[in-house]
Amino acid sequence: MRTAIVTGGGSGIGAALVRALVRDGAHVVCADVDLDAASSVAAGALGPGTATARRVDVTSADDVRAAVDAVVAEHGRLDLMFNNAGITFLGNTEDLTLHQWNAIIDVNVRGVVHGVHAAYPQMIRQGSGHIVNTASMGGLMAAGLMTSYVTTKHAVVGLSLALRTEAAGHGVGVTVVCPAAVDTPILDKGEIGGFKGRDFYLEGQGVKEPVDPDLLAARVLAAVAADKPLVIEPRQARIAWRVGRLSPTFVNKMATRFIAQQRRTAAARR
Ligand SMILES: NC(=O)c1ccc[n+]([C@@H]2O[C@H](COP(=O)([O-])OP(=O)(O)OC[C@H]3O[C@@H](n4cnc5c(N)ncnc54)[C@H](O)[C@@H]3O)[C@@H](O)[C@H]2O)c1
Repeated sequence: MRTAIVTGGGSGIGAALVRALVRDGAHVVCADVDLDAASSVAAGALGPGTATARRVDVTSADDVRAAVDAVVAEHGRLDLMFNNAGITFLGNTEDLTLHQWNAIIDVNVRGVVHGVHAAYPQMIRQGSGHIVNTASMGGLMAAGLMTSYVTTKHAVVGLSLALRTEAAGHGVGVTVVCPAAVDTPILDKGEIGGFKGRDFYLEGQGVKEPVDPDLLAARVLAAVAADKPLVIEPRQARIAWRVGRLSPTFVNKMATRFIAQQRRTAAARR
C-alpha cells in the first residue's frame, strides 16, 4: 500500500485528494492546522485505504518533519507528499499589512519548502516517491488584486519545475497543480476592502462554475501516475495559459482592464 501526506487535507482540494487516495488504497495522513476539520475528512474517507488525521501547521518545519518521520517510522516509506495547504488575500496591494504579506509567504511558500525539505531526502533514500505541490493558475499568469498570492504561487511553480529536473535523477517525481477557480471555501476567504472572491475569480476566468474538487483530485492522481510536470484545469485555463505565452502583452492589458473594472465594482460596494 502506498503512503501519502496531504497538507491542507481538512478542506477543499486537500480533502478531495485524501478521499481519492484512500479510495485508491493508500495510507493517508490528512494533515491540517485545523485538527477537527482533518479528523472529519479522515473519518469520512472510504477505503480500501485508510486515513488518519494529524495537526500540522505547515509554517512550522518541525511539524512537517514530524509528520514525515511518523509515516516513515510506521510504514518504512513515504510515497507521496502533497504540499497543498494555502491561503489567499484579495484586495488592493497597498491595503495589505506586512503581517499579511508574511503570513501568505509563510504558508504558501515556506509551507511547501518545509514539505520538500522533509520529504525529498527520504524519497531520494528510497529511490522513489512523488512530490505534488498545489500552486494555481496564479502561478502561471499574473493578475492584480491578488498580487501577494500570485507572488507565492509563481515561487511554487518555479520551485516545482526546477526540482523536477533534479529529482528525476533520483527516481523521484514532481508535479505542480495549477487550477483556475475550484469550488472550495477559499473562494470566499481573504477578502479585503469590498472585493468578492468568488465573483472576482469566475468573472476573471469568464466561467460560470468553478472546477469540482473531486474531479480535480482525480486529474491530479492521473497526472502523478503519468509523471506529468503540470496539471492545469479546466480546459479554458489551459487555453488562457497558451494565449498568455504567445502574447504576454495582450494578456497583461486585458488583466489591467479587468482589475480597473473590479476596483470600480468594489468601490461601489463600500
Ligand atoms: N480553490 C481554488 O480556487 C484554488 C485555485 C487554485 C489553487 N488553489 C490552491 O489549492 C490549495 C488548497 O486550497 P483550497 O481551495 O482547498 O482551500 P481551502 O481553504 O478549502 O483549504 C485550505 C486548507 O488549508 C489549511 N491550512 C491553512 N493554513 C494552514 C497551515 N498553516 N498549515 C496547515 N494547513 C493549513 C486550512 O485549514 C484548510 O483546511 C491552496 O494552496 C490554494 O492556494 C485553490
